[in-house]
Amino acid sequence: MRGIPRLAGLNAEYFERQIEGFKNGTRRNRIMLMIASDLSDAESKALASYYAGMTTLKPETSPADQAVIAAGAKLAATGDPSKDLQGCGQCHGAEGLGAGADFPRLAGQSALYIEKALQSWKAGDRKNDRDGVMADVANKLTDDQIKSVAAYYESLPIAAPAPSPEAKP
Ligand code: HEC
Repeated sequence: MRGIPRLAGLNAEYFERQIEGFKNGTRRNRIMLMIASDLSDAESKALASYYAGMTTLKPETSPADQAVIAAGAKLAATGDPSKDLQGCGQCHGAEGLGAGADFPRLAGQSALYIEKALQSWKAGDRKNDRDGVMADVANKLTDDQIKSVAAYYESLPIAAPAPSPEAKP
């Protein structure tokens, strides 16, 4: 569904931290607040390892304009030196596959979700990022840059799920 994030392969610890964020109001979303409030810590943990170990194909989406995707690819790789902004890949991995519990995977994620996340940081509605690192990034991005980088990440293939220590025997 449009704007609903892909959870398959999401790092388990990152997942749990986001549920906690909806509960404590550092991430604001009406629907997720209702759902998260009903989850115990044990349920959140169980769901986190379930989704972390899940592999699914990427849903079909109509590809964005090639020029838009190319502009997003450039921003992801080299950032915007005029604004002292580093490339997204510096933290999210060169292929957007993320790294550990701190840097979520962006490859194959819903473009609309990425846009909404960045706009929430700009608006100050999402505050659970450590040291405000993503708020800094988002505040430097124009609406056009947000759209292009979101389209770029949605266009990337999903590789193997992020390694999750919890999922291993
Ligand atoms: C300096 C490191 C850094 C850079 C550069 C960076 N990010 Fe992030 N990003 C993070 C961290 C850390 C988080 C996790 C925040 C949290 O815990 O809520 C994050 C989270 C996100 C999320 C939320 C994903 C989800 O599933 O909840 C999106 C979307 C995102 N970043 C997009 C971008 C884009 C697009 C760029 C480049 C324009 C970028 N980031 C550059 C560190 C970075």
